[in-house]
Amino acid sequence: ARIPGLPADFQTRSVERVGVIGLGVMGRGIVMALASAGLPVVAVGLDEDNIAAAIKAITKMWSSSVAKGSMSQEAMDKRMALITTSDDPRDLSATQLVIEAVTEDLDIKKAVFAKLGEVTQPGTILASNTSFLNIDTLAEASGRAEDVCGMHFFNPAHVMRLLENVRAAKTDPEVVATIMALGKRIGKLPVLSGVCDGFIVNRMLSKRSREGFFLVEEGAKPADIDKVLLSYGFPMGPFALGDLAGLDVQAAARKARAATATERELRANFVEQMVAEGRLGQKTGSGWYLYDENRKASPN
Ligand code: 3HC
Repeated sequence: ARIPGLPADFQTRSVERVGVIGLGVMGRGIVMALASAGLPVVAVGLDEDNIAAAIKAITKMWSSSVAKGSMSQEAMDKRMALITTSDDPRDLSATQLVIEAVTEDLDIKKAVFAKLGEVTQPGTILASNTSFLNIDTLAEASGRAEDVCGMHFFNPAHVMRLLENVRAAKTDPEVVATIMALGKRIGKLPVLSGVCDGFIVNRMLSKRSREGFFLVEEGAKPADIDKVLLSYGFPMGPFALGDLAGLDVQAAARKARAATATERELRANFVEQMVAEGRLGQKTGSGWYLYDENRKASPN
């Protein structure tokens, strides 16, 4: 049976230049994914320091690929040349798609979408990389709900093939068709979700984490739980994955879900405890595991 409104039925919009706003871990990876596929990217950060830190991190990751021989210096230079930076969202005016990857906070993202609605041309697609916030709310804030959708990348965004596109209530079907096609064009595996709790990926993975927390309460070691899942063919267990995604991000997702969480789920608050201690995972060098400079992990 055909599902109505699937992207194949619609025209795509032309996308030749892409903006990324928010240059944290996810924003940087998204910039890399786009430039690697040959797309010019306008990368908008908070200020000069934030932009310099992002360019430094991108240079470090690509240089290490060059040193390992998995990328040529020429390819790296080409990719770097496709990236321009700015601290002014108005510099996004000549893009046909902007991917927002600022802090996972509804008020901050609403303000960014309001700004994007002003500074970009009507018809420019405005996509959020949110992993759990309500994209309908962001769509309303932009004043151009039909141009708004989700494009949820996975860390490390320049490596992970999965791309979870999200159709909001008022998203124009052409927008959906465009982001599905663009996902393929940049070498990703795009899937489509509606606006719902956790979309597809975090909805499924949060259950796996939840059982992991309960098992820890009942005496199992996090590293052992990870080992079991690894042996069943998952690329990472839930604890290593929490460290990779960021325990602060996981805590924010748990908070967003708190109203419908069970008492037991709330009580298993390991993530909140670690965040309070400043242990956010790979990015702080300590979470469920301890990390050296090369992201090599040992149990914490
Ligand atoms: N940051 C940057 N680059 C990384 C990285 C990291 N954390 N981990 C690996 N890489 C790079 C490596 O440098 C290497 O680059 P190269 O090919 O240029 O040399 C490349 O990725 C492959 O690395 P490895 O050879 O170490 O490959 P692995 O086979 O170990 O794969 C992995 C690494 C792709 C990270 C794999 O372990 C995996 O798929 N893990 C699951 C990751 C996942 O599920 N991420 C989703 C997190 S949740 C999320 O992002 C959602 C959000 O909403 C919170």
